[in-house]
Order: sequence, then structure tokens, then C-alpha cells
Amino acid sequence: MNYSNKEETTLEIGTPLFSDVPRANYEPAFEGGSVRIDGLIEPTMCISPEMPVRDAVKLIQDREPINAIVVVSEEKPVGLISSLHIERILSKQYGVDLFYAKPVSRIMDGDPLQVEANTPIDVAADLAMKREKSKIFDHLIVTRKDSLVGIVSVPKILETLARIERERRQRIFRLERRSIRKFKPEQIREDELNAILEAGMYAPSGGNQQSALFVVIQDKETLKKLSAMNAAVLGEDMDPYYNASTLVLVFADRSKVTPVEDASLALGNMFNAAASLGIGSCWVHRTKEMFETEEGKDLLKQWGVTGDYIGVGSSILGYPDGEHPKAAPRKDNFVIRV
Ligand SMILES: Cc1cc2nc3c(=O)[nH]c(=O)nc-3n(C[C@H](O)[C@H](O)[C@H](O)COP(=O)(O)O)c2cc1C
Repeated sequence: MNYSNKEETTLEIGTPLFSDVPRANYEPAFEGGSVRIDGLIEPTMCISPEMPVRDAVKLIQDREPINAIVVVSEEKPVGLISSLHIERILSKQYGVDLFYAKPVSRIMDGDPLQVEANTPIDVAADLAMKREKSKIFDHLIVTRKDSLVGIVSVPKILETLARIERERRQRIFRLERRSIRKFKPEQIREDELNAILEAGMYAPSGGNQQSALFVVIQDKETLKKLSAMNAAVLGEDMDPYYNASTLVLVFADRSKVTPVEDASLALGNMFNAAASLGIGSCWVHRTKEMFETEEGKDLLKQWGVTGDYIGVGSSILGYPDGEHPKAAPRKDNFVIRV
């Protein structure tokens, strides 16, 4: 499972067997809006498949708190020995007599979960939790182009996910959403886009008439065309969508009770959802004027939008690039308490 082809620092694995893999000294690693699994790796030891079980047990016991060892052949991981797994096998009747002198390949998990270094942590967590119950606490093996990088423990994943969730909430409570106008070129992930759209769909609407309609554009040619249409309304030679890789146009059915309010709230929900996921967004206006032109009407027809729809606004989406903008001070007379 590979999430990008970015050039990455390679972590040297001690090729001599029984050597420690040095602890990765990574900056907090991000893949798009997510923490990457290789930001969580721990040192491990590599052993050969031929090592006697007795020696592997000694290594696990001698080197607490290491509780998993990777079995490696020609630098590629071929199995995992976890302390839980080994104890389970040896505590069985005759376990020690049967296995102590045998090679670890006889008792290792020959099909451990392996993930590529740039896998987002939430994807890795999903894969880890889908394992059979007896393996659910086993370490994940992290590889880069199939070569071992290190291991990640399940508690470390849980701890990190809990921290991310805490920070996500803080971002909403501290009102840290800002309009973002500079983006990285990568496209946002499908699951992130869907979460944002869902937040928009679940916004309140007048009489629950759900009058809003979203059109998502990621195709570069269409984005270029829409950018030119928007710039023409603005009367400026610039890209009003700031080179964002995703655009959500929000329309509303004029025949419903509160179309503009419904669409605006949907956009507001989407902005907050995006901010909570570390994704940048910004309302870009002039959607109404764009879709009142013949060109705009043709596009609506092409997209299958029939009926009396008004273009209320739009949201650009992408991974923010650069410093997070500071909020402008709030005006003094914002609130009147009666
Ligand atoms: C109705 C509306 C229209 C907006 N239109 C644009 C726009 O066309 N282009 C843009 O860059 N920002 C636009 N914005 C974003 C505002 O400039 C931004 O929300 C404001 O400066 C406050 O900054 P903040 O969102 O970072 O708190 C719009 C915002 C709203 C609510």
C-alpha cells in the first residue's frame, strides 16, 4: 500500500543479524492531513529465520521492553515474533521441549501486518483492528519498498490517535478555522472529502427542506474553466480558487423556504469539518453570477442540475501550505446582551 512516490530519507537497517534497527529520528511525519505511520516507529531487532527459539526467547527477555522481533531474510521481513505469541506457544504442555531447539521460522507469525512507511495512521489502525483477534495486539511492521524500517506497537497507535482527536477538538473549540489561500499540490483523500461533504449535508436547513446541492470538481480542466469564469465576474486576471485541487460549488433550490441560508450553513459546516481534519478551505464567492451566464447554465445542464438553482457560494479544499493565518481581531460591538 503506497500513498505517494515522494523521495524519503532511508533509514539504515543494521544488516548484521541480531542488530538493533536504529531509532528513527523523524520530524512529525505527515501524509496529506494525516500523521504517517513511520512517525511512530520503535527500534526492533532483526533475527534470521534459522535462529533457535531458545535464543529468540532470550533476546525478548533480555531486552525489555522490546516485545517483538522481526524475522528478516535478505533485508525483507518474513515474520514476527511477539512476546505474547511466544509465551502462548511455550506455556503449552511440552512447549519448551518441542520448540526450544527449533528455528524461529517454526513458530513465528509468517503473515504479520506490514504497512508502507507513508501509510496514514488511521488507515494503519483500521488494518490493525481488522486482524484476527489473536493478533490484535501484535506490532505492525513498517517497510519502505518492502525493506524493513521498524515496528509500531498498537498502544502507540492508540495513544497517537487519542492525541490527534484531542488536538482536533481543540482546533474547533479554539476557533482555529481560517480561510486558507495557499495549498500543497496533492489531492485530499477521498475519505476526508466525504467527511467534509457529510458535515455539509448534516447542516440545519429551513423546514428541514435540505435545499442545498453540492457539485464537487477535481478535474483540472474543469477547475481551469471555472476559475476563468469566476475571474471574469471578478474582473481580475488571477485564479480566484488559489490553485486548490478540490472545489465544492454550493447551489440551493430557490423554490424552498430558505435556500441561501441553508447553503451558507452547509458551507460553514464544511469549513469547520475541514479545519478539524487539518484541511484548508475558503469561501470563494461569485457562484451566483457565474451560473447565470449561458456558459454556467450549460455546465449545470451537463452536470444534470435541473430546476431553479441559485449558486450561493463555494469552498476550495486542500492541504494548507505555509503558516496558519492569524484571526483578525473581532470588532468591539459584536454582541449586545439585553
Ligand atoms: C460570503 C463570503 C464570501 C467570501 N468570498 C471570498 C472570496 O471570493 N475570495 C476569498 O479569498 N475569500 C472570500 N471569503 C473569505 C473571507 O475573506 C474570510 O472569511 C474573512 O476574511 C475572515 O477570515 P477567516 O475566514 O480566516 O476568519 C468570503 C467569505 C464569505 C463569508
